[in-house]
Amino acid sequence: MSIEPLSIAAIATALGPKACHFDVDVIDECDSTNSRLLARAANSPSGAVLVAERQTAGRGRLGRSWYAEPGSSLTFSLLHKLPPGRMATGLSLAVGVGVLEGLRQLDIDGLALKWPNDILRDGRKLGGVLIELTGTAAVIGIGLNLRLPSDLPDDVRAMAAALDAPLDRNRLLASLLTGLHEVLDGFGRQGFAGVRERWLRLNAYAERSVRVMSEFATPIEGRCLGVDDDGALLLETTTGVQRVLSGDVSLRLA
Ligand code: BTN
Repeated sequence: MSIEPLSIAAIATALGPKACHFDVDVIDECDSTNSRLLARAANSPSGAVLVAERQTAGRGRLGRSWYAEPGSSLTFSLLHKLPPGRMATGLSLAVGVGVLEGLRQLDIDGLALKWPNDILRDGRKLGGVLIELTGTAAVIGIGLNLRLPSDLPDDVRAMAAALDAPLDRNRLLASLLTGLHEVLDGFGRQGFAGVRERWLRLNAYAERSVRVMSEFATPIEGRCLGVDDDGALLLETTTGVQRVLSGDVSLRLA
């Protein structure tokens, strides 16, 4: 499968009239596109995008590393400045909806969202979202697997997914940015409450029995009822409905 080089001109062409909302930069290598955009957030416009072929210190959620094979993944960050008075509560879930809708525009099937912000394909992780805030600016980092490396250990392969389609990454990025633009616009006006119904329709674990693990609390088990207007996970447990604010969700085997 041939890989199209990333190019600012090709991304602008694929964005069409939406190109005016973004200021895209493509680089070969950096430590982390999130770190780079965070460092220049104060002096960059909302809509600045940094896409890198290779990250030497890609970062994931909860302090984890994010490793992506060069040429087999898409790694980028988008700077988004929230309108005055709008908190970032639920932003990462809204971003998941934008990513999924961007992917669906390219006819990619089997997609769902796993709380709080994993992109799943056929139940396995296709990509992730890392949002970092500085003042009212949010740096939205997204990593997506295009192909899985052949030497991936079996246990990792069992949990990972890839697009595995002859996709032009410039078109892919443009479609994701278009999906994100629409969702972020709505988020600015209504917050997560305006996106919640769409998130619920994409919830991979709706009505399933799940376990939420977190570093600082005991695991919680229950039936996944969805999320509230703040993006908190709602679990029906033996002691009533509990709101969960952070953690890793996994399916509980029957
Ligand atoms: C996760 O699932 O833990 C989130 C992964 C987010 C990875 C992306 S890749 C582009 C951006 N730059 C980073 O360092 N991280 C995000």
